[in-house]
Amino acid sequence: MKGIILAGGLGSRLFPCTKVTNKHLLPVFNKPMIYYPILTMVNAGLKDIMIVTGGGSAEDFIKILGDGGEFGLKISYAYQEGEGGIADALRLSESFAQGEKIFVVLGDNILDDDISEDINDFEKQERGAKIFLKEVTDPERFGVAEIRDGKVSGIVEKPKNPKSNFAVCGLYLYDNSAFEIIKTLKPSGRGELEITDVNNVFIERGDMTYAVLDGWWTDAGTFESLLKASNLVAKKEGFIF
Ligand code: G1P
Repeated sequence: MKGIILAGGLGSRLFPCTKVTNKHLLPVFNKPMIYYPILTMVNAGLKDIMIVTGGGSAEDFIKILGDGGEFGLKISYAYQEGEGGIADALRLSESFAQGEKIFVVLGDNILDDDISEDINDFEKQERGAKIFLKEVTDPERFGVAEIRDGKVSGIVEKPKNPKSNFAVCGLYLYDNSAFEIIKTLKPSGRGELEITDVNNVFIERGDMTYAVLDGWWTDAGTFESLLKASNLVAKKEGFIF
């Protein structure tokens, strides 16, 4: 299985900080944000990963991460021109994936859980996809999953009236057909190829499984969530403020 970290975007919700560097290089407590999805990959047992970046300061990723040897990884890089969305960024890793299954993590997603068992389960899953859900108090900020009869029946991206409190986390396991699905997508209202649309195709095919995270999970793409992420990591590392 190949790992893909999506770390593009302008980070406009974190202006002015992101005027001088990429969002994913800002500190979350004592490490650059990108370290956390990298450690998620390492804990999942992956060895070969690609970082897809975009916007400014792409060269800073290489300064911080080099070839990945420090993490026991081989890191490749791709660059997304423009603001085509998460699924458009993922498209750029098709040749890197070499027909294998993929584990995709959004570069601003930080979690407490060890999900290696779920990764092993997905290795055995014949085909399709697996997503991770977490109950939140502000589901309208995320893709929201509706669950019926123990299955995800659909996902709505940032709904005004969410049908559940289950946010879809930015961690996705896909078989290689994800790349074929992306080629069929049309841009959403905000002009982007949405990862939620990829997930809904797997759901329609009846090929989607899910796991609910036990521990904490947060994104870090707004000032509020960035502070929350720093506090959660600091607490985990034994610092009390
Ligand atoms: C993206 C996805 C959304 C998901 C979220 C997780 O949203 O589109 O479905 O719930 O990541 O962090 P973004 O916050 O990048 O707009």
